[in-house]
Amino acid sequence: MLVYVATTNPGKLHELRELTAGSDLHLMVDETYEAAPEGDTSYADNAAAKARSLRASLLARGIHAAVLADDSGLEVAALNGQPGVLSARYGGEQLSWAERRALLVGELSTATDRSARFVCVLHFIDEHGAEFVAHASVEGSITLEDRGEQGFSYDPIFWYPPLQRSFAELRIREKNAVSHRAIAMSKLLISLGDSEERENMSTHEHWRDTVRINASHISSAPEQNA
Ligand code: IMP
Repeated sequence: MLVYVATTNPGKLHELRELTAGSDLHLMVDETYEAAPEGDTSYADNAAAKARSLRASLLARGIHAAVLADDSGLEVAALNGQPGVLSARYGGEQLSWAERRALLVGELSTATDRSARFVCVLHFIDEHGAEFVAHASVEGSITLEDRGEQGFSYDPIFWYPPLQRSFAELRIREKNAVSHRAIAMSKLLISLGDSEERENMSTHEHWRDTVRINASHISSAPEQNA
């Protein structure tokens, strides 16, 4: 199934492509997609808005395809959950990612609790307009400085305790085995699989009913060879 992804973030797209590599979803981008201004309260609302606006724009051009949107963010306990939904622009759009990470690390200079979590909401709309949502988060903490070169955005300062490395020190396969995005994607694929199974089931039930009707028709027919 062809799926257009509502993102302009190459890091997200790369991860989403890896995460769906063994599935039936073939992710592509719509070069004309432009992220609409995001709300500042809810990942779920933002993900839904991104998916619905991309779908509307595709439909307006006669393209009937599934769409996928990801809204995600980093929540730092000592900052009362900030930057959260506003993670992409924390400290202002003019900052580079190195500066944004340094700003956040600096804000925690006196914090005793450095715990943080990444959150992800995926919103999928299939080609018929049915909507599916999956949420997930992953717990970790904020490092004292950048560590590692992989990943994107906040990955160099997100310490993942079970592997004793930052997300930017993990290979993409390692991050994609444990991340917020990976867990949300596996939930999404399960609900898409379940719904496909239900669809097959109803086809199967339809077939079974047809067989039953035919069978009753046969059994109510006059016995010819008895
Ligand atoms: P949005 O979903 O477009 O609002 O952007 C999400 C922002 O959250 C990204 O630009 C990053 O700042 C941050 N973020 C979400 N997921 C990750 C991740 O896996 N690694 C690093 N930063 C992330």
